[in-house]
Amino acid sequence: MSNDSLPTNGNGHEEDFGWDDRRLDLSTKVAVVTGAHRGIGRATCIGLAREGVKAVAAVDMADDLPRSVEQINKKLGREALIPFVGDVTDATFRQSVFEQMKERVGPISICVPAAGITRDYLAVKVNRESNNIELYSEEDFRRVLDIDLTAPVYWALETIRSVAQDRMARDLKRWDPNERVQGAIIFIGSVSSTGNKGQISYATAKAGLEGAQATLASEAVFHGVRSAIIHPGYTDTAMVRTLGADFIENNIIPQTQLRRLILPEEIAHAICFLIRNSAVSGKLWADAGWHPRS
Ligand SMILES: NC(=O)c1ccc[n+]([C@@H]2O[C@H](COP(=O)([O-])OP(=O)(O)OC[C@H]3O[C@@H](n4cnc5c(N)ncnc54)[C@H](O)[C@@H]3O)[C@@H](O)[C@H]2O)c1
Repeated sequence: MSNDSLPTNGNGHEEDFGWDDRRLDLSTKVAVVTGAHRGIGRATCIGLAREGVKAVAAVDMADDLPRSVEQINKKLGREALIPFVGDVTDATFRQSVFEQMKERVGPISICVPAAGITRDYLAVKVNRESNNIELYSEEDFRRVLDIDLTAPVYWALETIRSVAQDRMARDLKRWDPNERVQGAIIFIGSVSSTGNKGQISYATAKAGLEGAQATLASEAVFHGVRSAIIHPGYTDTAMVRTLGADFIENNIIPQTQLRRLILPEEIAHAICFLIRNSAVSGKLWADAGWHPRS
């Protein structure tokens, strides 16, 4: 069989055994990842750096973030990560991260707002000792929604503004596919977004991100920015380890098909895939075959 008669991919494009998969070229892109000090956020920073991203703003409230970033950069052999210590709910801090990154390396166009917390207990609890029926604390509810819902949405909106400003400066109007995709937002949902006993605030926040993602998927494409949401199952991070070894062994592992916790690196790999593959939209479940008992 001569080269001329090789089968084609059927779309009329020339095929030369390479493939035109239109993956986002990260080498010119600047990202922001929140919750970067540990767990899924940290793994995502490393994943993006390994995939050749130009730079990542690594954001977390942990004081020793700069030290861990320094260690990662040393291993990578380049200053891929730039640390920013602060609270993701602070709008002034958020804007300063975007301004400083723009000045140092260029406008941020990729956002993975991974910082998150849990405050888990029953929504309505019968206290036999005091003979009271106690409600979930409104203060806890608002704090979880601030960090897990409002903050991710605003870090995403700031990213879209950053891309919009950059395109405006280049006198570009409605995005055209020939321009190629300009940026991506990947929200971190959870299997709990469909509801989970003891997680009234967390489940509400994660379900809320679905609405934000779906809205931005249709709005932000005006500026060439895609958005998607990943729903991880139970992943081996400090957030899950605080549940205790017995709880994990008895209540989580048996309800997964994989029979183990997911690695943060596996979630980071899926996030990088969502960022780079423009054909994927909407949601991705990375749940290790989670099938909870009701
Ligand atoms: N671990 C899981 O099983 C799992 C499953 C589904 C979704 N998620 C989500 O993935 C994301 C990361 O979770 P993780 O398991 O890596 O958690 P983690 O607790 O290991 O890390 C969370 C990081 O966020 C930071 N953070 C928390 N509040 C902050 C704030 N106000 N400002 C700045 N930084 C703050 C913490 O300092 C920490 O470094 C969260 O959104 C979480 O809801 C986790």
